[in-house]
Amino acid sequence: MSKNAKRYLILTYGCQMNVHESEKLAGILEEMGYTPTDDRNQADVVVFNTCAIRETAEQKIIGNIGEFKSLKRKNPNLVLAVCGCMSQQSGYPEMLKKRYSFIDIIFGTHNLAEFGNFLKRRLETKKKFIEISETEDICLRDAMPKKRTSGVNAWINITYGCNNFCSYCIVPYVRGKEVSRPKEAIIREVKEAVGNGYKQITLLGQNVNSYGNDDRAKFGTFAELLKAVDEVDGKFRIRFMTSHPKDLTDDVINVIASSKKICHYLHLPIQSGSNRILALMNRKYTRESYLDLICKARKAINDIEFSSDIIVGFPTETEEDFLETLDIVKQVGYQQLFTYVYSKRKGTVAEKLDGQIPSSIKKERIKRLIEVEHQIATQISEKYIGKVLEVLLEDVHPKKEGWLVGSTDFNKTISVKADKSLIGSFVMVKVTNAKLTTLSGEIVEE
Ligand code: 5AD
Ligand code: SF4
Repeated sequence: MSKNAKRYLILTYGCQMNVHESEKLAGILEEMGYTPTDDRNQADVVVFNTCAIRETAEQKIIGNIGEFKSLKRKNPNLVLAVCGCMSQQSGYPEMLKKRYSFIDIIFGTHNLAEFGNFLKRRLETKKKFIEISETEDICLRDAMPKKRTSGVNAWINITYGCNNFCSYCIVPYVRGKEVSRPKEAIIREVKEAVGNGYKQITLLGQNVNSYGNDDRAKFGTFAELLKAVDEVDGKFRIRFMTSHPKDLTDDVINVIASSKKICHYLHLPIQSGSNRILALMNRKYTRESYLDLICKARKAINDIEFSSDIIVGFPTETEEDFLETLDIVKQVGYQQLFTYVYSKRKGTVAEKLDGQIPSSIKKERIKRLIEVEHQIATQISEKYIGKVLEVLLEDVHPKKEGWLVGSTDFNKTISVKADKSLIGSFVMVKVTNAKLTTLSGEIVEE
């Protein structure tokens, strides 16, 4: 690497969609001749790719941007850009600019593909600016280069945006209307990633199950897309996220059941176990229909495991509502739960609801929920002791020298004593130990 090479640092917050969008920003920067650095003092360009899903995320990001004030003073040539969901929120670019006049470029979720031009403009004119669009041409986004940075996994977008308007959620406001990518473009990208040695393909959408709803004749259904991805040659795993329960069809369940590559794992966010709260959340399913889905999937798909997202303390949530959530968590038996305290988001329908829950109650409920889930996750882990499972080895173990970490088909993390050269391989592993969220085991001959 030349001594004068320009360096970039991207700080990514939030979900997998953002992780992948940062890979696209990195693609642009690398085409422009920049190389990555983890050291902010060495960076010529720093990009904050932000999240707006909860207030805690926002506060953290705002604090972290503030830390760059002194660095910008020391190095005025450093270009600081802020993008992602927080930038797209109404009033936020102005608020950020007022609070942190040192930010060079603020751009929105629909301006991702223009980042290279923005950077050139800033370098040439030395002027600071804000660029927020309300719509975009997805062909431009499809044409963006990518620098994949997620190990053996390749993220592949199948839809952008969301039409669901769950009453608590900011996403439809900051990411816009749902748009599907053409099946041919997705399959081309899958083939390219598999050809480049990626062992896991994760299809990404806010709600993958509604793929093609914007033009059924043109795009087909998610089940058809999954089948086409499954037919791509090569040894690799297929995952997808996120699945809205209201749109998970029998066809999707059947494609998973009859495929060899699609993992036997579903992330199926329930959000609440109370029908009253589900209606207020605008989720469009009931605890009964959700449990029917779980039953159907269990019957059709061997050894499937589930995970979920749950929000506690949604406005008006009573102790009885919360007990229904605990009950459904026990009935389903999730191998992993992502638990959140409700956070009021400006402009959403739930923001205007009476009956906001005091933070002490929200904290107490989330604690109880996590305790219940710990017991369940431990039981699920323990049932695998002594079994032989196929594992994809993904990375070196962060703590144990001579060990690697991988994942099972049903998305459980597993530590395996193995040489680094095996990263990216599928091996058969006998499970010897089980903890709350992880297993460990040893490689056995097939
Ligand atoms: N407050 C708390 N959690 C939220 N989520 C989305 N919006 C909010 C909010 N306002 C959670 C949901 C979603 C996950 C990605 O984030 O559980 O599935
Ligand atoms: Fe938010 Fe609901 Fe869309 Fe998920 S489906 S992004 S929770 S509005």
